[in-house]
Amino acid sequence: MVRKALRVMRGETIFPPPIWMMRQAGRYLPEYRETRRTAGSFLDLCYTPELAVEVTLQPIRRFGFDAAILFSDILVVPHALGRDLRFEEGRGPVMTPIEAKDILRLETDGTTKQLEPVYETVRRLRAELPDETTLLGFCGAPWTVATYMIAGHGTPDQAPARLFAYRHPDIFDKLLGDLAEASADHLIAQLDAGADAVQIFDSWSGVLDEHSFERFCVKPVARIVEKVRAIHPEAVIVGFPKGAGALYAGYRERTGVNVLGLDWTVPLSFAAGLQGQGAVQGNLDPLRLVAGGAALDEGVEAILENLGGGPLIFNLGHGITPEAPISHVERMIERVRGARI
Ligand code: CP3
Repeated sequence: MVRKALRVMRGETIFPPPIWMMRQAGRYLPEYRETRRTAGSFLDLCYTPELAVEVTLQPIRRFGFDAAILFSDILVVPHALGRDLRFEEGRGPVMTPIEAKDILRLETDGTTKQLEPVYETVRRLRAELPDETTLLGFCGAPWTVATYMIAGHGTPDQAPARLFAYRHPDIFDKLLGDLAEASADHLIAQLDAGADAVQIFDSWSGVLDEHSFERFCVKPVARIVEKVRAIHPEAVIVGFPKGAGALYAGYRERTGVNVLGLDWTVPLSFAAGLQGQGAVQGNLDPLRLVAGGAALDEGVEAILENLGGGPLIFNLGHGITPEAPISHVERMIERVRGARI
């Protein structure tokens, strides 16, 4: 098996480590901006296999990353559950806030039928990608997706979802349960279509207390992992509980994910300890990539030095920002690929 990123995700140590970037298909690339301009809406881009394949391949052609991530969005799952969704320039996703009565009426059957264009994209990608490139599918974790469904848009501290969860615990549990079911079906369909591994993005897990983290983040993700593994026992699953801090300890064991995605605030000494149980992925501050120069070089060196001795997939600690210069991305890749022990 030549897919280096996949081998590391399964626990092998390879140095120099494989590398890819979260949001690697995005606005920092002129070719993405061009396709996006002609595509119509952002959702058209997500649901048109020809276009979604094209933008997924763009960063692979340009940089030869070791992994490609399906071009789509975490909010296609609530969209398939019948919630309205649009993406506004400069504002991000906008939905009609979901209410208790709507949650009681949610039905998870038929989600994957709606999302068939996404699976067609995965099939075409596996056929078109170089054999050595690992193909990742993904979904949002139920907590993170629920924060958008309840507020109707992104919020700085996810206060609407936290309040809803405290005020209506049973109804919120139903929402998380439905999202876990639909998300598991979505991941299974991506694996059926040829994805080598899948990542679960829990971008807003950093705002919860210990008890809520367990109930809203760990439990639903564990349910997804269990359902996926019932169909694909060998499925490689990356968990990314961004901002989880001390709660990263035990997350792999409690959810069953193979790989831990680390944000940039995770101390490297602590991260090295987490490699005892399997691979880690991350965790360069995306703003080091914007700044370049010594800030970039030092950040890359520190990760390689501290984590290069164990199973590591080099990545950013969150998505690349539109301001990141392409020359800095090239420099990062050169330094990772040119690294010597
Ligand atoms: O290259 C890749 O990483 C694959 C594609 C991908 C996108 N979104 C494309 C996208 C992935 C994996 C996501 C995940 C996603 N989407 C998350 C989890 C990861 C994270 O960033 O925390 C979240 C929270 C979303 C929801 C979402 N989608 C937001 C908040 C926004 C607006 C913010 C922004 O950057 O504009 C989006 C839009 C979005 N999704 C864009 C892209 C490339 C930019 C929209 C555009 O091109 O106009």
